[in-house]
Amino acid sequence: MRKVIYPRVGGVDSIQIVDVEDPVPGPGQASVRVHRAGINFADLMMRQGLYGSNPDFPFTPGYEASGEIIEIGDGVGGFRPGDRVLAMTGFGGYSERVVLDTGRLVPLPDSVSFDQAAAMPVTYGTSYHMLVHLGNLTRGETVLIHHAAGGVGTAVAQICKAMGASLVIGTASSPKRDFVNSLGMHFVDRESEDFVNICKELTGGKGVHHAIDPVGGGHLMRSYQSLRRGGKLYYFGASAAVKGERRSRLAALKMWASTPKFDPLRMMNSNRAVFGVHMGLLDDDSIFKGHLEALSSMLLKGDIAPIIDSVWRFEKVADAQLHIHERKNRGKVLLDFSPN
Ligand SMILES: NC(=O)c1ccc[n+]([C@@H]2O[C@H](COP(=O)([O-])OP(=O)(O)OC[C@H]3O[C@@H](n4cnc5c(N)ncnc54)[C@H](OP(=O)(O)O)[C@@H]3O)[C@@H](O)[C@H]2O)c1
Repeated sequence: MRKVIYPRVGGVDSIQIVDVEDPVPGPGQASVRVHRAGINFADLMMRQGLYGSNPDFPFTPGYEASGEIIEIGDGVGGFRPGDRVLAMTGFGGYSERVVLDTGRLVPLPDSVSFDQAAAMPVTYGTSYHMLVHLGNLTRGETVLIHHAAGGVGTAVAQICKAMGASLVIGTASSPKRDFVNSLGMHFVDRESEDFVNICKELTGGKGVHHAIDPVGGGHLMRSYQSLRRGGKLYYFGASAAVKGERRSRLAALKMWASTPKFDPLRMMNSNRAVFGVHMGLLDDDSIFKGHLEALSSMLLKGDIAPIIDSVWRFEKVADAQLHIHERKNRGKVLLDFSPN
């Protein structure tokens, strides 16, 4: 079988596709023929050596994949060859086949496509974790989200709508204005408009209830300033450390150096909270599984529906990642590993 590897820190031209022996499932495991694998922004940061929690190089990225079981190991109950599944791979999803403990597989109803399944876990799981699990998002509340047109951004827009948020303010680059507005968000041009002022203006001077910041650095304090008293800030990414498809040590350094230190006394006096969120480092798997269950029932009811920007054959993985670096995606980008 073939799989994608990152041999070392590099630009998209460093990505390789290698042929390896087919993996064999051990006891309690299943082998899944992958049809779709999700690309996440974190994969791009890992390739640049800017992510703290990836395996040593060389490794195969890919948190999430969908496909069908082709073989099971001894002692497996509840799954059999031919079953369609979502695979929570952790790493290694950019592969024609993955072998996993069956505890990391979720059966897929016939009505859920491989595209939908691979597009959901990281983006929707993270959004749900922040807004619903940590934030207790309540009908009528207001939300600020950055990268509003991306994978997480589009998931946040849909979850907010389903939960009855009264206003979602979404920042993105200017070509995405119509797309962001079409999702029911109030578009803010992240380059030419001041989102802090706009958050205040649109909420009668108070600020938003929830601010979701995947940018980091000095931007994080501006998201905090967009909050009302009693508001909640979620810090869950560091896109300010990325500048183009090659690693920029300067951008990374600037991001770390400008990251604010929050003062607990001031937080107490304004009743504001700051959450740090890293879904890959949640200790308790049952939390994420609970989110997936809630999200799958929202999907089956039609409350949410992943927006797929594009699906690329895995041989074109470098172009697919470049597409995200160039900020062209509107929704989720997937890799196609299905047999030709
Ligand atoms: N902590 C966690 O557990 C967790 C989980 C999921 C995602 N995240 C974070 O959430 C953010 C969104 O993730 P995603 O996978 O949904 O990605 P995404 O939003 O689809 O990422 C691509 C978009 O990000 C924007 N962007 C901002 N800075 C950028 C840069 N330096 N280079 C390229 N694009 C940049 C671009 O849109 P515009 O410029 O038009 O806005 C681009 O289209 C990322 O920072 C990611 O690391 C964290």
